[in-house]
Amino acid sequence: MIKKVDVSDLRLGMYIHDLNRDWVEHPFLRNRFLVQSPRDLERVRELGARYVYIDTELGQDLPNPTPFRTVDRTLEDTLQDLGRTLKRTTPLVSVQEEIRQAKHVVKEANIMVHDILQDCRLGKQVELEKTQPLVTSITESIFRNPDALVSLLRIKQADKYTYQHSVAVGTLLISFCRALDIGRTEIELAGIGGLLHDIGKMKIPRYILNKPGKLSEREFALMQQHVAEGRLVLENTPGISPISINIAAEHHEHYDGSGYPLGLKGDEISRFGQMAAIVDVYDALTSQRVYHAGAEPTAVLKQLLECCGQHFDMPLVHSFIRTVGIYPVGALVKLENDDLAVVVEQHHEDLLHPKVKAIFNSRLRSFIRPRDYDLSKPSCHQRIVCFEIPSRWRIEPYAYL
Ligand SMILES: [Fe+2]
Repeated sequence: MIKKVDVSDLRLGMYIHDLNRDWVEHPFLRNRFLVQSPRDLERVRELGARYVYIDTELGQDLPNPTPFRTVDRTLEDTLQDLGRTLKRTTPLVSVQEEIRQAKHVVKEANIMVHDILQDCRLGKQVELEKTQPLVTSITESIFRNPDALVSLLRIKQADKYTYQHSVAVGTLLISFCRALDIGRTEIELAGIGGLLHDIGKMKIPRYILNKPGKLSEREFALMQQHVAEGRLVLENTPGISPISINIAAEHHEHYDGSGYPLGLKGDEISRFGQMAAIVDVYDALTSQRVYHAGAEPTAVLKQLLECCGQHFDMPLVHSFIRTVGIYPVGALVKLENDDLAVVVEQHHEDLLHPKVKAIFNSRLRSFIRPRDYDLSKPSCHQRIVCFEIPSRWRIEPYAYL
């Protein structure tokens, strides 16, 4: 963005777009340049112009001292470094082998969580024993291959969002626990907490819950009540564990104390509560809904990294990146040859070079005969250039898994 700034506000690192002076009048070779030294600053001031124009895309901005591009580049580097060093657990079966079973689990999970949430809206008690077989089958699918089930959970329908998001948070939490080598009993308790983390929303008026636009201050305050309401519902559920209650009670707390409802800080928030906060944000931002494309997973991972120390604990965020990987299965990516490809399998030891299936050529705007690439093979000369939004190309990536 081109901005007009007072010369007295000019700082090192800003990029001059226009000195507001005819070039012959000043000692600089070019009208456009980066202010790199105190001498540059002095010379600009000596020109006597009151204002100059800066390009905030190419240099620093005011009042924010760090330009967006620098931040993004640093986060990208961090993510790439993590991709090189983090290792994932070896799956027992391939995504292709697990996907059929995973589709069945998602279907069952959506029906069950929908029913539990509806019962709660009607004032009925949560029947915890109903969740146990479901959590067990989710956990078993995750242990066989986490990418199959997780890849299916990104797509959500607007009217089914609350319970589909609940299933996704429960599943991602189970996967996160597994990556941290947490014991099987605790994993399942965390899974139950994830499935029920937003149960308090059933006590919030529907018009607020389904409001498409921005909530007013009063409506937002009411919405925030879902955390306290959820805690109350679960505390009155026979047989529920403290792990599950903590997840519902703490999933909107922030590491630096800026969250709600209690403003808990650091270790005052249980480990499971901290994990739930990360998972909740990741799923909400990456979800593909009708009229809402969902952010690219790597963009969201960068956002999580950016919030380390404020909203989240850094080692936990790193572990979460290990959980989901850098290029999640089911994502659509563009390759160097302009082909669009679906990520079909991640390598547990090489998160930056997954297996992909090329299906469409973006230059020709037409489908091509599917072609498999293993980007980790030295003989493979293709490279991922960027993520693509599937709806933009009318592509359904999940049909290719
Ligand atoms: Fe929530």
